[in-house]
Amino acid sequence: MSNHENKIKVWDIPTRVFHWSLVILVATGLITGFVSPEWWMGIHIWAGYGTVLLIIFRLVWGIFGSEFSRIETFAFTPREVIAHMRELLFLRPLHYIGHNPAGAMMIFALIFFLFSITITGLLVLGGEENQGPLAGVTSYQVGDIAADIHEVLALILVVLIGLHVVGVIVEMRLTRENLVKSMFDGYKIIPEGKTPPVTRPSRPIAAAAFLLAFAAISGSVLWVFSTMPPSGIIQMAENKDYTTECGDCHEVYHPSLLPKVSWAKLMTGLENHLGEDASLDRDVAASIAAYLDTHAAEAWDTEASNRFSRISLDVPYQITATAYWKRKHSGISADVFKRKGVGNRARCASCHRDAATGHFDDQNIKIPKQ
Ligand code: HEC
Ligand code: HEC
Repeated sequence: MSNHENKIKVWDIPTRVFHWSLVILVATGLITGFVSPEWWMGIHIWAGYGTVLLIIFRLVWGIFGSEFSRIETFAFTPREVIAHMRELLFLRPLHYIGHNPAGAMMIFALIFFLFSITITGLLVLGGEENQGPLAGVTSYQVGDIAADIHEVLALILVVLIGLHVVGVIVEMRLTRENLVKSMFDGYKIIPEGKTPPVTRPSRPIAAAAFLLAFAAISGSVLWVFSTMPPSGIIQMAENKDYTTECGDCHEVYHPSLLPKVSWAKLMTGLENHLGEDASLDRDVAASIAAYLDTHAAEAWDTEASNRFSRISLDVPYQITATAYWKRKHSGISADVFKRKGVGNRARCASCHRDAATGHFDDQNIKIPKQ
């Protein structure tokens, strides 16, 4: 038999495109999650959405794809998996045309973790950032817990990816098959003497119909969710006195950035306001004090309102003196704050384009170049 006749098409195009797209998206997600600065979060989020779509596609293709893409062809029993692992230990794994049992286990594990990572990611996005489809139904606390889980799952994913790559290299050595090449061109070589299996073709129309129906249903559900206003964000009318009087010397800080006690302390000590005399007419001061009290951090459930409400009594209303503010900005050098476009640390709006709304979204951070 010639080499040509020994070849069999194993991975169809959708499965191959899925595999390499997933590699790109997961790499993007990991880099933007662990390495790059926070204002890349927008890319991170899109990598997450893309990953969910890919996984949903793959599960559907696992039903309607061609022979070796079908999940049933690599749903091995635990006994088969153990047998394969034992053969691997003795360095004589059996040849499988599609996924081998170890590879199949890895696929299920990867899909499970990727799914959990994207679900917890949506909870973080909704809870901490008040964004995404779950913003209306998640509290900051839920987002905060989800963030820890999200990170642990992502670390496990990194380990799994490492094992997956090692596993592929080991199998390639032992079976002398170029598995990576197969994942590009789709072909595998059948060992001498082995009869090519009967393979079923894919059913792309059934898959497309299924995906369309699924998209319609899940799309409507997501749409209903995303019409809900983000929880923890209240409607707030502007207080003219606050804007003009307090905006006289510096930017108008969003009321959610400090708790009630801080605003009260600030308003009762205006004659010595961090070394400045900021005294106001009694009525004006009373109106501002009431406005700040009503709209203080306690009324909100945003990341900023939750984080800045832990203040130190020595500096009762200095946002930039909170441990959280210092930690978040510790990577920014003093020179950056002195740039003309910034001025000083307390000019939040020069870097946070949404400071006036109190959101402080990662995607809205932009440090002035000079
Ligand atoms: C006469 C000028 C002046 C007026 C008027 C003024 N401030 Fe200030 N404020 C300052 C100065 C100076 C600082 C300290 C330097 C800085 O952080 O910019 C400051 C700091 C602050 C801070 C802390 C910022 C940080 O570093 O985290 C808050 C909050 C604040 N002011 C709120 C107010 C409010 C509310 C009003 C209106 C009732 C007000 N300020 C009116 C001058 C003023
Ligand atoms: C020189 C630019 C600059 C100024 C001025 C600045 N920030 Fe930031 N801030 C940043 C950067 C950059 C980050 C992201 C840091 C990181 O990657 O962890 C950040 C992060 C934050 C975060 C966390 C956002 C999140 O979702 O993780 C909050 C909240 C925040 N800043 C609030 C403030 C407030 C309030 C002020 C004003 C009192 C302020 N910042 C002033 C640049 C600035």
